[in-house]
Amino acid sequence: MSHSRSSRSLLNGWPLLGLLSVVLVVMTLAIVAAHRFDVDGVRMAIRATARTSFVLFALAFSASALLALWPGAWTRWQRRNRRQLGLAFAVSHGLHGLAILAFARLDPAGFMAATSLASYLTGGIAYLFIAAMAATSFDRTAAWLGPRGWRVLHGVGGYYLVITFLISNGKRIGISPYYGLPVAILAVVLLLRLLAWRRKAALRPATARS
Ligand code: HEM
Repeated sequence: MSHSRSSRSLLNGWPLLGLLSVVLVVMTLAIVAAHRFDVDGVRMAIRATARTSFVLFALAFSASALLALWPGAWTRWQRRNRRQLGLAFAVSHGLHGLAILAFARLDPAGFMAATSLASYLTGGIAYLFIAAMAATSFDRTAAWLGPRGWRVLHGVGGYYLVITFLISNGKRIGISPYYGLPVAILAVVLLLRLLAWRRKAALRPATARS
């Protein structure tokens, strides 16, 4: 196999998920090790994994709409690897969860100050969705759920996660205006999904629309 072929296959399908997972684990370990496993490093890892999660989630959540609106090499890659991008988001958020547990152990008082009962509840529900969506992202488990159930779970879960990202970033805009960037990106993605949905509806034969 030539070099370019092997590097291309590493950027597709399950090897892509493996590569992204390794990068995420190494990044998280490097951050906490550079801070000698203290609470500041753990908090930095929480923020870093929240950001990698956002990028991976946004890529998976926008894949279909972008391909429908702008078919091309990049959008085809994104749509083809949507499942792996979604699973890499789950890996990234698993690391967010582990870093959160480490924060709670290392600095219980600081953890209590940074969180609330409402955040445990809404974040906990988000984690249940992520686990259910990840578990049904394989051929066998997706078939077990059936296409209708899959669409409902991944549809409702996807929008719930959008809301969670909007709130968790939006409430920090007062800390730094840069938190407006993910909020703006999500607004654009929602708009693009609406446009793609309308275009698909318009292309559908009149009989199917009635
Ligand atoms: C029970 C579940 C969760 C808990 C306890 C939790 C806890 C935390 C904490 C303590 C921080 C602040 C870290 C710091 O500044 O030192 C944080 C940041 C954040 N979390 Fe979570 N989280 C949870 C779930 C989630 C979920 C489900 C999402 C999104 C889908 C999310 C997205 C974020 C974002 C966007 C940030 C801001 C990161 C930044 O500063 O860039 N979290 N989380």
